[in-house]
Amino acid sequence: MKTVANYSSVQIALHWAVAVLILLAWLSAEGAEEALEAAEDGAATGFVPHVAFGMAILSLVVLRLVIRLTRGAPAAPGVPGSLQVKAANWGHRLLYLLMIAVPLGGVSIWFGGMDNGDIHGLFANVLLAVALGHALMALYHHYVLKDGLIRRMMKAD
Ligand code: HEM
Ligand code: HEM
Repeated sequence: MKTVANYSSVQIALHWAVAVLILLAWLSAEGAEEALEAAEDGAATGFVPHVAFGMAILSLVVLRLVIRLTRGAPAAPGVPGSLQVKAANWGHRLLYLLMIAVPLGGVSIWFGGMDNGDIHGLFANVLLAVALGHALMALYHHYVLKDGLIRRMMKAD
């Protein structure tokens, strides 16, 4: 994977936009359940915020992955090859995987008519839990280890 000195302003904007959208998708999920029931009863559903947030996440994360793979990202802090660096890298890979898999699960329900609501909800909760752990690690780096890590995701130098 290509290593560069910083995150670009586009990578930073996408990181925070996707984080906010994931929170909004999670908070609006009940509306999707109601819309799905209405659709199954043959009613018109109209605009469903959860589906809009989820589809926005899917497209922005695909864009983000393309940028990640072509432009690269800064190396995780710590000794190269150490457990700490490996854990950070695998944690980020897991987040990317969940950020793609969860909306695809949503697509299989909403557009594919598949009965995957429970699995979709379960993996959405796993995504939220991993993201929370990720945010706590970022705060730990910034405020306890005092290595200024969060600055990398705030401003491109
Ligand atoms: C990261 C993005 C997403 C998150 C975090 C998320 C989260 C959730 C959660 C927590 C539920 C509740 C499940 C339950 O309690 O049973 C849910 C349900 C649902 N989501 Fe998503 N979702 C996302 C993307 C999508 C997308 C892209 C679509 C459609 C294209 C979608 C369609 C649905 C539908 C139709 C339900 C209702 C399922 C049912 O009642 O069986 N979701 N989502
Ligand atoms: C739903 C919420 C979130 C998701 C899905 C998420 C996802 C990610 C991913 C996948 C990366 C790796 C970027 C890459 O290398 O391409 C990353 C980096 C980062 N995130 Fe988040 N994030 C979320 C919320 C947060 C929050 C709340 C904070 C701050 C408290 C935060 C701070 C950071 C920092 C500082 C980095 C850079 C880490 C480094 O340089 O090694 N993130 N995030």
